Amino acid sequence: MSQHTDTVALVTGGARGQGAAHAQALASAGMRVVIADVRDEDGQKTAAALSEKGLPVRYLHLDVTDENAWAAAMADIEGREGGLDVLVNNAGIIRVTPLASLDAAEWELLQRVNTTSVLFGIKAAAPAIARRGGGSIINVASTAAHRGAEGYGAYSASKAAVLALTRAAALEYAPVGIRVNSVSPGGVETPMIDDEPPGGTSSGAPLGRRAQPEEISPLIVYLATEASSFATGSDFLIDGGATVR
Ligand SMILES: NC(=O)c1ccc[n+]([C@@H]2O[C@H](COP(=O)([O-])OP(=O)(O)OC[C@H]3O[C@@H](n4cnc5c(N)ncnc54)[C@H](O)[C@@H]3O)[C@@H](O)[C@H]2O)c1
Repeated sequence: MSQHTDTVALVTGGARGQGAAHAQALASAGMRVVIADVRDEDGQKTAAALSEKGLPVRYLHLDVTDENAWAAAMADIEGREGGLDVLVNNAGIIRVTPLASLDAAEWELLQRVNTTSVLFGIKAAAPAIARRGGGSIINVASTAAHRGAEGYGAYSASKAAVLALTRAAALEYAPVGIRVNSVSPGGVETPMIDDEPPGGTSSGAPLGRRAQPEEISPLIVYLATEASSFATGSDFLIDGGATVR
């Protein structure tokens, strides 16, 4: 499992939930992993727990909505890890509010945390990844980018924009060897679902349950490595069949 020891990966929103699971999976594949988040206590604990398992994971404070902070984070990673090969833009938030009572502040918050952050991440990380001769950027979208759900207008719009941004980035960075793809999970058992109505958008999924975060991570590892060498500009749904209906 140590074939990727020269690979450095950054996972945003890695303090808990899916990001923590992805960090563990990437590190288990041999990568050195930096988890970045604003939940410093959770992030330190997650990094310590993975380090205790012998996995090379460290925590870095990064508010993904702050473009200057992205520049500082990249300088820190290039200084300490020697470069970057993989970026997983996973940080995100959800609010569920009907359009009639959705105000501009909530709309803009969701776009900034879920979408603008992905732009900042791509802009900051791509030059570093290009300096290594290429690599992979994975943007976490959602089934909400693909289907409608009452109350999910702002969240769905933020995630649909991630798909569009992914396609543009795939085209713009292919010449420097960076593949850019998105992943659209549906209904994953993480603390985020506390901010959703019971069942969320996963109710009615043919597999009849939510995913555990570890069930999404193999797809992230696939997209992070040369196993996916011909994949760029695509979205990968992983949702227990929820979008089939
Ligand atoms: N849980 C689901 O059902 C589900 C389904 C589809 C997509 N997603 C997406 O998966 C991703 C991971 O979510 P999760 O389910 O693990 O939820 P989560 O709430 O457990 O994790 C999200 C992480 O992002 C971090 N974060 C939020 N704002 C940040 C900021 N400004 N800067 C840095 N970090 C920030 C949080 O602190 C948290 O650690 C999100 O993009 C989410 O939208 C979740």
